[in-house]
Amino acid sequence: MKVLGIDIGGSALKGAPVDTKTGRLLAERYRVEIKSPCSLKEGLAAAREITRHFKWKGPVGIGFPGIIKAGHIGAVGNLGKVWENKNGAALFRRATGCRVQLLNDADAAGLAEVAFGVGRGRPGTVLLLTFGTGIGSALFHGGVLFPNAELGHVPWRGKPFERYAAASVRKRARLDWKEWAQRVNIYFGVMERLFSPDLIIIGGGVSKKSAKFMRYIRARARVVPARLHNDAGIAGAALAWSRKSG
Ligand code: BGC
Repeated sequence: MKVLGIDIGGSALKGAPVDTKTGRLLAERYRVEIKSPCSLKEGLAAAREITRHFKWKGPVGIGFPGIIKAGHIGAVGNLGKVWENKNGAALFRRATGCRVQLLNDADAAGLAEVAFGVGRGRPGTVLLLTFGTGIGSALFHGGVLFPNAELGHVPWRGKPFERYAAASVRKRARLDWKEWAQRVNIYFGVMERLFSPDLIIIGGGVSKKSAKFMRYIRARARVVPARLHNDAGIAGAALAWSRKSG
């Protein structure tokens, strides 16, 4: 099946047609910048621009940075409160003129890594954490996803962990890679105490810079960078069409 995958991030929407059998992007990704927070109008227009760029009429899968249940948007992290409690699938369907399935963005990245990347065929508990504007999470056991886990919102020193250890915090607080990795190690320690993962996959924008920080990462579990890098979000968004419900 060919699905247009769209990954909504804190600073841009990125999309490309995807072959859902292989997870391969069938064209170069197209990116539309957005502001943070992002209005409904701007976000929907950006999705429309991506479908127009590819002259797309087929199914669209969208990875959205918030809780998604059967196409409805629940709590939203960094994109903006205006998106909360909306029928996301209906909004994007109207904006793009295409059939749309929605799922959480980190769940999307996790599904792609487990289907086609470093999580493939891995037994036990696999935890993918995406480090970008926020921290997203996808938790698997025996290859089955526990959706909307929102582990970037586990509290640490009175605020969500994503405000302590997201990749955006590294830049904002001017942490070097080692200082940032030390924060990530604290986060991994908490995740290990809670879920005893056998494999932790580091996803999001930082995954392609793993040479800068992997040597500072310490955890009991095996820790690896995502193989599909940032494309996991797009490939996984397309996989929304291979799942029965969200
Ligand atoms: C949101 C999550 C999302 C993550 C990464 C968090 O702020 O609450 O739903 O997966 O950011 O985008």
